Amino acid sequence: MKIGRCFPSSAFFMVVIAGAWSLSPVRGDDLADFKNPLDNSPMTFELKPGETETPALKKFKQTGTNDYRSDAEALAEGKKLYTANCIICHGADGTGKMGPTLIGKDVIYKQVLTDPGMFSLIYGGASGAMQSFSRRGMKQDQMLRIVAYVRTLEK
Ligand code: HEC
Repeated sequence: MKIGRCFPSSAFFMVVIAGAWSLSPVRGDDLADFKNPLDNSPMTFELKPGETETPALKKFKQTGTNDYRSDAEALAEGKKLYTANCIICHGADGTGKMGPTLIGKDVIYKQVLTDPGMFSLIYGGASGAMQSFSRRGMKQDQMLRIVAYVRTLEK
């Protein structure tokens, strides 16, 4: 009897959760989005000499989950990095200047809706003015912090 009463309500709850998940504007878990935005080929991420794979970075590469999204210190660092490297083209609120918007769903490369997709694009670059930040010397852990910060700009 107890199970009979309990089951329908928990099933209902699961449906609500699944519905909210699929409606959420950004998802952080799509491993298939670790790819080159220009040709969709899978990407590999080389560590530079002296660069270490932090625990958050390691977990991110394995699971697609970006723990920095809920880490105040990492978000503060991400904001500094974004201000120094990205604001000039994407604007303080991320809605774009000479570069396109980084928030909302109206993006050029759909992969940037997930954290693995945005990370890949920052690492390897896209076309024109959007150059590879790996080649410009940025560490992968810093890119992960920037992605986390950009998500806070989402309304
Ligand atoms: C010199 C200008 C410039 C700078 C600096 C710059 N970007 Fe870009 N960014 C662009 C342009 C232009 C594009 C569009 C590229 C294309 O169409 O292939 C772009 C595209 C992107 C996209 C894909 C957006 C979409 O709609 O798919 C992301 C994500 C992005 N940039 C993030 C960043 C981040 C994060 C930084 C700082 C680390 C940064 N950019 C720095 C100019 C810039």
